[in-house]
Amino acid sequence: MSDSKIYPVKANIAQTTHLDNEQYLAMYQASVSDPETFWAEQGRKFVDWMKPFTKVKNTSFDPGHVSIKWFEDGQLNISANCIDRHLATRGDEVAIIWEGDDPNQDSKLTFKQLHQAVCRFANALKAQGVKKGDVVCLYMPMVPEAAIAMLACTRIGAVHSIVFGGFSPEALAGRIIDSNSQFVITSDEGLRGGRAVPLKANVDEALANPEVDCVKSVIVLKRTGGDIDWVDGRDFWWDELTAVASDDCAPEPMNAEDPLFILYTSGSTGKPKGVLHTTGGYLVYAAMTFKYVFDYQDGDVYWCTADVGWITGHSYLVYGPLANGATTLLFEGVPNYPDASRMSQVCDKHQVSILYTAPTAIRALMAQGDAAVAGTKRTSLRIMGSVGEPINPEAWEWYYRTIGDERCPIVDTWWQTETGGILITPLPGATELKPGSATRPFFGVQPALVDNLGNELEGATSGNLIIRDSWPGQMRSVYGDHERFEQTYFSTFPGVYTTGDGARRDEDGYFWITGRVDDVLNVSGHRMGTAEIESALVAHPKISEAAVVGVPHEIKGQGIYAYVTLNAGEEADAALHKEVKAWVRKEIGPIATPDILHWADALPKTRSGKIMRRILRKIATNETDSLGDTSTLADPSVVDRLIAEKSSLE
Ligand code: WT7
Repeated sequence: MSDSKIYPVKANIAQTTHLDNEQYLAMYQASVSDPETFWAEQGRKFVDWMKPFTKVKNTSFDPGHVSIKWFEDGQLNISANCIDRHLATRGDEVAIIWEGDDPNQDSKLTFKQLHQAVCRFANALKAQGVKKGDVVCLYMPMVPEAAIAMLACTRIGAVHSIVFGGFSPEALAGRIIDSNSQFVITSDEGLRGGRAVPLKANVDEALANPEVDCVKSVIVLKRTGGDIDWVDGRDFWWDELTAVASDDCAPEPMNAEDPLFILYTSGSTGKPKGVLHTTGGYLVYAAMTFKYVFDYQDGDVYWCTADVGWITGHSYLVYGPLANGATTLLFEGVPNYPDASRMSQVCDKHQVSILYTAPTAIRALMAQGDAAVAGTKRTSLRIMGSVGEPINPEAWEWYYRTIGDERCPIVDTWWQTETGGILITPLPGATELKPGSATRPFFGVQPALVDNLGNELEGATSGNLIIRDSWPGQMRSVYGDHERFEQTYFSTFPGVYTTGDGARRDEDGYFWITGRVDDVLNVSGHRMGTAEIESALVAHPKISEAAVVGVPHEIKGQGIYAYVTLNAGEEADAALHKEVKAWVRKEIGPIATPDILHWADALPKTRSGKIMRRILRKIATNETDSLGDTSTLADPSVVDRLIAEKSSLE
C-alpha cells in the first residue's frame, strides 16, 4: 500500500545529524555483511574497556544450542562507563535533572555529584553484605536514587532486578522468589499524580509471604516521610547507611558476559519471565542506539518519560544516555498532572531538546486538545520519540503538529524487553517518515517476515516478524531457565529469533508493526499475558473459570475484557463486580484491572476442553458476523448465550 503520507527529511534537521540516507544505507550494508568488523569498531567507540576484547561475536540460534556471546573476553564496568569516564571532560555538567511530581520540586546532579553518590551507596551495599553476582531487587519511585542504586549495583557487580512500583505485593513477592533476591531497595512512599504509593508497606506485605525467605535486608529511602512500619535488624535507612560510607569505591572489572540485570516481562503462558541481560553487548548496543536514534549532541537535554521499572527506563533513561555523557531528565510524575500541559511545561522549564514518550500518553493528551500545550512554547524540542506500542497515525500527526510544531522528526522505535535496545526505527536526518511506521532496521539488525510455517515472505506483505541473526543487546537467557528461553524465542521458527509481533512491510521496505500475534496484551504500553490475568481471576474463591482478551481502547491502545464464570450458587452483582476488579489489582497491580467484566454462563470450548479465544475476541469486539467455524465447539449454543449476555452489558 502506498497509503501513507510521507514526511521528507528536513534540511535543517539533516544538517545537525550524524547521517544522511546514503550514509545510513552504506553503514547498514556494512553492518550486516561483516558484523565482526562492524561491531568491533562500535564496541571500541562506545565503551571503555578495562581489558580489551579480542573476540566479537559468538552466537548460535540453533535449536538445542542457543548461545549468545558478544565481546566475550573483554572486561568493563558499566558505572565507570556511565560516570567516571566523563569526569575529566564534563564533571561539572548535569548528568541527571530530576523533576518532582510537584512542579515546585526539582534538583540536579552533576557527573561529579553522581559519582560521589554512586560510590557511597555502592559502599553501603558492600557493608550490607552485597557481593558480586548477588541479585538486588529495586522497588523504587522515580527519584535520582533509583538511578544511583542501579549504578551502584553495577559498580560492585551486583545484578539488579527492578520491579515496577505499580506492581502489587503479590507480584513483587513472585519476582523476589524467582530471582532469589537477598536485598531489597525501596522507599517509604512514592508520589505520582499527587497520590502517595505505599512502597514500603507493599514490601512488608510481600516479605510477609512465607514463601519469601531469601531477603536479608531492606534499604529504605525517605521520600515523603510518611508513616511506615519497621523491622529492626532487617530494615535500614538509606541515609544512615550512606552517612557512614566512603566516597571511594573502585569499579569492579566485569566480564562482558557477566549478568547485568534481570527484568521480568510477561509472555503468552506461565509466570513472568526473568529476562537476563549481560554487561558488554548490552552497553554497546544501548549507547550506540541512543546516540544515533536520538541524534544526541553535546548540549542536548534528553527526557524519556518511562519508569525505571521498564526496559525503556533501563536502556534509554539511564544506561544509554549516561554512557554518552548526556543530560537525562528523570520525572517522578505523570504527563497530565497537575494539568494537561505538564509535559509541555517540563519541556520549557528544562529546555528539553529530545523527548521520548509513549503513544498512550500522547493519546491521553490529544484528548485534552490544546490544553496540552497551553501557555508553553516547546521551541527547545528538536527530536521526538515514541515507544511501547503501535502509534496510530492520528496520534502521530497530533504529536508532530501540536507538541512538535511540525518542526521535529518523530522516531517511532520498535523493540522489546528482550531486545535490550531499539531494533526498528527511523534515524533523524536519514529516514523519511510515514506516520505509524517504525520504518527500517537499525544497524546490524536483520528483520524478516515469515508465514505460520516459517517460510520467508518476500516483498510487500504481512507476516510474523522474526530477526535472522543476533545483535549485541539481545537477552541471553531466561533467568534460571535456559530451556524456557529456547522454547519461547527459538522453537516456533527454528534458527531465528521470534519476536511475537506481526508486521507488514510496504514497497519501500518500511515495517509497520501490527501488534502481538500471541496471547500477550499491551495496555497503555504495559505488557501483560492473558494467562497471568486469568490465573489471578481464578484465584478468587467465587470464580470457577476466566478467559481474557484484548479489545481496542481509545487511550490505552488495548483494554482488558474478562469473561468470568462464577461457581454455582454465586450471585453476579455490582458488589462482586467491584470486588473482582479490586482482586486483580491486588494480585497483579492497577495496570491489570479489567476494563470490562462479562459474567459468562459458560465459555466456548472445543471437545478437548480448550477455550476458543478467537470466538471470545470476536464477541468482545462485536464482530459476530465473522465468528468463523464454530462446529468444533462442544456446545455451540454457548456462543448465542455469550452474545446475549454481551448485549445486556451495554
Ligand atoms: C512489545 C514489547 C520496547 C520498550 C517498551 C515495551 C510493542 C513496542 C513498539 C512500536 C509497535 C511496539 C510490541 C513489542 N511495541 N514498541 N514502536 N511500535 N509496537 O517493551 O514491554 O517488552 O513490549 O511492545 O508489541 O513486542 P515490552
